[in-house]
Parts: sequence; C-alpha cells; structure tokens
Amino acid sequence: MNLFNVYPINNISIVKAKGSYVWDDAGQQYLDMYGGHAVISIGHTHPHYVQRLTDQLNRIGFYSNSIKIPLQEELADKLGKVSGKEDYQLFLCNSGAEANENALKLASFYNDRKKIIAFKKAFHGRTSLAVAATDNPSIVAPVNQTDNVVFLPFNDEAALESYFSEHGNEISSVIIEGIQGVGGINEASASFLQAIRKLCDQYNAVFIADSVQCGYGRSGKFFSHDHANVNADIYTMAKGMGNGFPVAGIIIAPKIQAKYFMLGTTFGGNHLACAAALAVLEVIESEKLMQNAETVGNYLMEELRKIPELKNIRGKGLMIGFDVPEELKDLRKNLLMNHHVFTGEAKPNVIRLLPSLALRKKDADEFLEAIKEEIGAMTNVA
Ligand SMILES: Cc1ncc(COP(=O)(O)O)c(C=O)c1O
Repeated sequence: MNLFNVYPINNISIVKAKGSYVWDDAGQQYLDMYGGHAVISIGHTHPHYVQRLTDQLNRIGFYSNSIKIPLQEELADKLGKVSGKEDYQLFLCNSGAEANENALKLASFYNDRKKIIAFKKAFHGRTSLAVAATDNPSIVAPVNQTDNVVFLPFNDEAALESYFSEHGNEISSVIIEGIQGVGGINEASASFLQAIRKLCDQYNAVFIADSVQCGYGRSGKFFSHDHANVNADIYTMAKGMGNGFPVAGIIIAPKIQAKYFMLGTTFGGNHLACAAALAVLEVIESEKLMQNAETVGNYLMEELRKIPELKNIRGKGLMIGFDVPEELKDLRKNLLMNHHVFTGEAKPNVIRLLPSLALRKKDADEFLEAIKEEIGAMTNVA
C-alpha cells in the first residue's frame, strides 16, 4: 500500500531528538527552530515528560469517558492555575481542528445562531466548520462551503463594527487567532481584540480565541490574546499542549453551561493524553518557560532586526516571522540543507520560527550565525 500523498516532504528521516535538537538516520544533528510545527513546547524527549508518560502507560493508557478519570480534573485544575482562567471549564479532544469545531458548535448551541465571523488569512483547521472558517478556498471542499461564515479584514475595527451593526443579532461567534500563524505571523492588535470583546458582549455573540498555535505560552503569556487584556469566551488549544502527544481542548467561560452529550469524543481526555498535558504544564511552570519564551524571543527579534536583508521582523515570544526578499527565496531551504536548521514558512517568502519554549540563548545564537552565514553566501554569489 502507498501513502496518500498529501505532504510535500523533505527527504530526511528523524530518528532521535533532545531539547531543541533532532538527529537523522545518518547521525546528522539539526537545530529545530520549527518545533515540529509549533508542537514541541517543552523540548523534545524532556525527561519529566518521558517519565510521566512511561509511568502512565505502565498503569493504564486509555479507558472511555464513561468512567471517572481523575487525571482530567487534575489537568483542569493545573490548566486553570497556569493560564489564570480558573473559573473556566475544560473539554478535552484530540486536535486543533476538532477544538475549533467544538468551539463553533458550542457557540451556536449557546445563542442558537448560525453566523460566524472569521478574518482574512485565518487558518482554523481542515474539518468541516473549521475549514469553512479558514480563508483558503483551495482546501475547502464543496461539501464544506457554507454561507454561515463571513471573512472580514483583519484588524479593521470599522469593518467589524459595521458588520455587527447590520447583522449583530444573527452572529453566533467571532473566531480569531491572537497571532495568525499559517497566515504569516500577523498580530491582532490589542484594540481590535478589545473591539471584538465589546461587540460580542453587546450582541451576545461568542468570542472564540483560536490559541492552537499562538497559545500555551508561546507568545510569552499563556494565551496571546492576554496581551490585549481581554478574556475570550472560549479558548481553543492543541499544538503545544502535549509536546507531540495528540491532545487538544477548549476552555469555556462560566456563562456557557454544559448539557449531557452536547459535545463528546471517544479518545479525548484519555489517561495518556492527560499525563502528557500535565507533564507539559508542570515543566512550563517549573522551568519558567513562558518567561524564557519572552526573553529569548525578544533577543532573537532584536538580533534579526540587525540583519538588513530581513524585513518586517514580527511576532511575540517564540512565535516570530520575517519577510525574505525574492532574491533570497531559497534561504529557508538552504538553512536546512547547508546548516541543518529547521524553520517554518508562510507563503510568500515568510520564514516562521516556532521553536521549543525552552530554546536557550546559545541555540538562538547558533541560528543567528547560520542565517547570517547563509545570507552572506547567497548575496556573494548573486
Ligand atoms: C491557528 C490554528 N488553528 C487550528 C489548526 C488546526 O490544528 P490541527 O492541525 O491540530 O487540526 C492549526 C494548525 O496549524 C492552527 O495553526
């Protein structure tokens, strides 16, 4: 049987990993500034994480949501404390798309409405409503197309206000990434997030903060939306939550109440997933990784701004993007092939950095050396 060929891949097979480094099957070491797509939050194979998962696996890996799973309560408690949203309620699922799917559905149950406001360049996942709320027609199948989603310009308060004033009573939810990831590292402004809060309150719409990529401490605060001092009604999270173990969730403000069977999943919140998520929070807390993300992220951005070829350095914490001029469009590929550094991308010509929140200054320096050297080599040839 062949694999269903949906991913353009690099011809590299990673067999070992530690901290911010991975190794291929020929023993070559790579610096991971991509974090396996923003997933590696506490560093690869962190010993506490490995131990907690191993211990859990030796006890029990899975049983269904028909029984008590005290680890879920332990996780809700810890997540409340670390995120500062102690009065929220936790629903566990398995992926970012599923988290957004549940959030949009829950909002619709809550206010009995259908319309969703999403924004230009948004990415919310590939399942039915999540993909319908994603601004990329090429990944929306005909069956996912719906008039229930409208895309408004990002950071445009006037457009948002005018849409609300015309359709306010039809709007179920507004979904927004605090920092757009796939869209190219675009930060929602504090005043835009505050305007969403105000309008959602005024019209009883639900504010959904997609924190799948920008959340879980990556921006230096637990949720990137926290930088604007607003509380969303639902936060969705996934990537960094399990440091590679598939676990996701939504946290829900107290005003939205649960009813039996309104949401559900077979695998969500299983014993192993909870152990992974707890291990991640324990390490984020004990190693002060949010602080580290802020410090090392600021350092990286400051140093990147000194490289004249790179434009529009942006982001927060360890979610960083910058534009690469057309003549250096192979920079990302060359960083990987010539310097063994993984980075992320966004179209066109944006490099995205999404490393582990435990990235050390010396790892950042290694990256900066590599990028300067490569730009030097590429501009000398040109
Ligand atoms: C902001 C955002 N939301 C949702 C998703 C979908 O997550 P998943 O791939 O786990 O379904 C992603 C994935 O890149 C994302 O970046």
